Amino acid sequence: EAGKSGYDHYMRKEINEQPRAIRNCLRGRLSEIDRAVSIDEIDDLERPERVQLISCGTSYHASLYAARLFRDRGIPASAFHASEYDADAIPIDDETLVIAVTQSGETADTLGALRDANRWGAETLAVTNVVGSSVSREADHAMYIRAGPEISVAATKTFASQQAALAMLSSALTGECSRGFVEDLRALPDQIQSILDRSRAEEVARDYIDSDAYFFIGRGYGAPVALEGALKMKEITYKHAEGFPAGELKHGPLALVSERTPVFAIISGASNQEKMIGNVEEVASRKAPVIAVTDSPAAVEHHVDDLLRIPETRPQLLPILANVQLQLVSYWVANQLGRSIDKPRNLAKSVTVE
Ligand code: G6P
Repeated sequence: EAGKSGYDHYMRKEINEQPRAIRNCLRGRLSEIDRAVSIDEIDDLERPERVQLISCGTSYHASLYAARLFRDRGIPASAFHASEYDADAIPIDDETLVIAVTQSGETADTLGALRDANRWGAETLAVTNVVGSSVSREADHAMYIRAGPEISVAATKTFASQQAALAMLSSALTGECSRGFVEDLRALPDQIQSILDRSRAEEVARDYIDSDAYFFIGRGYGAPVALEGALKMKEITYKHAEGFPAGELKHGPLALVSERTPVFAIISGASNQEKMIGNVEEVASRKAPVIAVTDSPAAVEHHVDDLLRIPETRPQLLPILANVQLQLVSYWVANQLGRSIDKPRNLAKSVTVE
């Protein structure tokens, strides 16, 4: 109990620790003067021909995010569910960098996929929170996200730190980095703090507590966060929740949309805004309440029922901020429903069986 530092739940404490976690993750790795990212642990890694990311759960969502960043910077990259990695039989060679993304470093499926990659001759890298974990020992290289211990089963601060670490990694490996990017990374801790100080998530959770299901939509960098928003919601509230790229709405999920299914829409002011507003109108015309998580409230407020604001940032970093609002919404829904937030039924922090 003492470990909760006065909070009711570890999850709340860990959500609130995100500014510090990100600061730790960035420390000593950024230079504004020469606009560069340098990560000591991977000094000897060269720019790979291609990147594959292997992971499970929340770490998979961080991997989807990272794959997009690598692709944006000119390196072909894909994210795989670790449990499906061998089934996919994607060709790899020693020009392929396989990155195992895992908070614990002990997830059996991720470890299994890493062993396959090692056996198939790839260069391998662990991105993990736990120094000395199995994955960090078995990969050729290890980079630490430095989030500090995470007790709550549902991953929160480690997701933010994974994203920050992978954003830096993609920059370090491609050499693509602007002063603006470094400045925007550095701004993240204070921006997250301002979200934590002002979030309306508790009210939003109360307003929609009786819903049948919760949907989460986003495009581009917003799509993985939509998946993570839904995962968090189902893990700790036991409510039906689904996340998908907004363009997929009309290919199925729209059949479930009603006035009893709030839709959380992640909307960046700088990317895909018009298309997202189009998707918002699709669900609004089926009477679904829409809550925008956005850095451009003025452009979207007339189209939605509620706003969860985040500070303005570049689309590549928006997921790190938007996710904080979604974590808080899930937390407050679970709290108001009286769920076992830190230890949800049937789930474990680290899954060591395949
Ligand atoms: C479990 C946890 C999740 C986590 C996943 C992967 O399912 O409950 O929160 O995302 O494992 O864990 P890892 O330690 O590999 O990131």
